[in-house]
Amino acid sequence: MAEVILNDVKKTYPGGFQAVKGVSFAVPDGGMCVLVGPSGCGKSTLLRMVAGLETITGGDVAIGGRRVNDLEPMERDIAMVFQNYALYPHMSVYDNMAYGLRNRKTPEAEIATRVKDAARILELNDEMLARKPRQLSGGQRQRVAMGRAIVRKPSVFLFDEPLSNLDAKLRVQMRVEIRKLQRALKTTAIYVTHDQLEAMTLADMLVVMNAGRMEQAGAPLDVYQRPASVFVASFIGSPPMNFVSGVIESLGVVKLESGETLPYDVNEHIAPVGAKVTVGVRPEIAHVDDNGPLTLPVELIEELGMGRLIHARLGARPFTIAQGPGEARPASASVRASVPPHAVHLFDAGTGLRV
Ligand SMILES: Nc1ncnc2c1ncn2[C@@H]1O[C@H](COP(=O)(O)OP(=O)(O)OP(=O)(O)O)[C@@H](O)[C@H]1O
Ligand SMILES: [Mg+2]
Repeated sequence: MAEVILNDVKKTYPGGFQAVKGVSFAVPDGGMCVLVGPSGCGKSTLLRMVAGLETITGGDVAIGGRRVNDLEPMERDIAMVFQNYALYPHMSVYDNMAYGLRNRKTPEAEIATRVKDAARILELNDEMLARKPRQLSGGQRQRVAMGRAIVRKPSVFLFDEPLSNLDAKLRVQMRVEIRKLQRALKTTAIYVTHDQLEAMTLADMLVVMNAGRMEQAGAPLDVYQRPASVFVASFIGSPPMNFVSGVIESLGVVKLESGETLPYDVNEHIAPVGAKVTVGVRPEIAHVDDNGPLTLPVELIEELGMGRLIHARLGARPFTIAQGPGEARPASASVRASVPPHAVHLFDAGTGLRV
């Protein structure tokens, strides 16, 4: 049972660089929190502060109601899984998984039970337990790294890009397995990735980071549907959201730089007439419509099998429309398109924040 609470956590590295600039969020007991953001935004630094591998230079981290700032990693009741697995090459898989428990002087019989249990969950058979890590595939090594975390029965799992050394197909498989495992064990987890799709699919709670700050935290679908800023809107979702400049023409109508007008939902956005905005439209929500208000010259159509991407232009800006498998491929060099008002996102043109 462990809730993890970060309160205004900061990290300034020796030399003066501030990598984390005050981050606060709470992961409920048993929850899966995913930290996502571009390279260098401070995800690993934050995770390593929770783990105790990096000193905390400001704020507090609490695990299970206990402030852990000054505790050694060993004393924090966490287990961490790294990108490079960090397995000992000279030890068997069994010994790798047993290592942490032996360090804690756990009796051998108890170790055997725990390793066998974890191996069964992870589908590692006895023959594999006897091998050395180099005699395993990347996916199997990843399982061993997971196994080593599971046998410890920690209060919190910490994952730092554990799947990024695997090929695309295995990554999807392991993603599903990690999620199932975490749900079954009901262990609180913090998972770091720069892959927005991995983040969306794994998280109960998504924390989007940018340049050492938290841009938004929330349930993945809420973040996807109501991004708090242009940054979040462009980072979450693939292909990324389309953006064009606009001005609020009247209540519920935005005039685009390309000259067209689009209706937006006044229950979603409050912006004064004349306000300069950035208008965001997700490719999967814009649709080809012969009576639509937008006229878009088509530059390229990509067939994806499960649908297609129409790469077009709206005025001077690129604009992509994603079509499903049942929709007709446009035949002409230019398409008309419409966007439902509730799917028109508006952001302040200056601050980039949702209005
Ligand atoms: N030991 C260190 N000393 C000084 N600066 C550091 C140190 N470690 C990391 N940094 C800097 O802190 C920032 C955040 O690094 P961090 O490793 O947390 O990023 P990240 O979000 O995990 O990126 P990635 O997705 O590439 O792993 C980076 O600008 C990095 O250069
Ligand atoms: Mg990192």
